[in-house]
Amino acid sequence: MTARKNTRIALIGYGNIAHSLLKGLLAADYEADSIRVSDSAAAKLKDLKQETKGIRTFASNLQAIEDATSAILCVKPDVVQAVCAEIKDTLMRQSTVLVSVAAGVSVDLLERWTAQTLPIVRCMPNTPVAVGCGMIALYANPCVTAEHKKLAEDIFSTVGSTVWLEDEKDMHIVTALSGSGPAYFFRFTEAFEKAAKDLACPPHLARELAMQTLYGAGKLALQSRSDIATLREQITSKGGTTERGLQVLEQADIDKIARSVLKAASLRSVEITQQLEDT
Ligand SMILES: NC(=O)c1ccc[n+]([C@@H]2O[C@H](COP(=O)([O-])OP(=O)(O)OC[C@H]3O[C@@H](n4cnc5c(N)ncnc54)[C@H](OP(=O)(O)O)[C@@H]3O)[C@@H](O)[C@H]2O)c1
Repeated sequence: MTARKNTRIALIGYGNIAHSLLKGLLAADYEADSIRVSDSAAAKLKDLKQETKGIRTFASNLQAIEDATSAILCVKPDVVQAVCAEIKDTLMRQSTVLVSVAAGVSVDLLERWTAQTLPIVRCMPNTPVAVGCGMIALYANPCVTAEHKKLAEDIFSTVGSTVWLEDEKDMHIVTALSGSGPAYFFRFTEAFEKAAKDLACPPHLARELAMQTLYGAGKLALQSRSDIATLREQITSKGGTTERGLQVLEQADIDKIARSVLKAASLRSVEITQQLEDT
């Protein structure tokens, strides 16, 4: 609690991920006045200020990071360099920990755009942080102390499960699987909802069946001691409906599809790093 009391977080760029993170932090009882938000779009800040009592919003990134213990960069990868140039001197002066959630932006690039002596945490959250169920991978540069790690851990463990990576290269597969992953499960759920409607299921029923099954299967898988294959086998009776349905997934080579999905997304993460390094 003491750590939280002294924590002042600046969220830079208020888009999808910052919105999810803020929602999760507030739900976990972070005080609104310990969080500052900046964005280039004034309208977004106005809405946020109206919705969230006590939150401090700024059109200037520099003002938002004033006095912050951590600055969380939530802008698109191609904007990170410009924002770093803008805030690096203040971060250095205040010894503020820089946390970047930008996909593909390596610690090496962040150090190049700020300073090699700045504590930097590269982080990959996902949008379920909004409901306290995020998956957050973190990687620290050598300037990050145990105290800095605790600061980052205190923030992110309140909105999900955290893991510290030893090898930054693993961030590509993290980005592809847990960073982008909610979209794959949403897409799968959308497909089942649509298919049920096509098979004459009433729309509201199709939606509820698909959504609750996604939620229930996830929760069961997480809470169960059994591995996921065992959980699947427990519902798959010989000659039953599940077996027949699963046969279709196997015929479509679901393993190959999953491999291709992760390969494509992680290659894109490598590509973003490469493109930024070449500029
Ligand atoms: N979305 C996810 O699920 C997810 C998950 C993990 C990591 N990430 C990473 O999070 C970052 C943000 O993604 P997002 O989906 O949240 O993007 P987004 O919705 O586009 O949010 C970025 C926000 O930053 C604002 N912005 C642009 N330039 C700025 C500047 N110079 N100073 C302050 N704010 C500025 C943008 O305003 P305008 O719209 O007016 O440009 C926008 O509101 C990306 O680097 C992404 O790789 C996203």
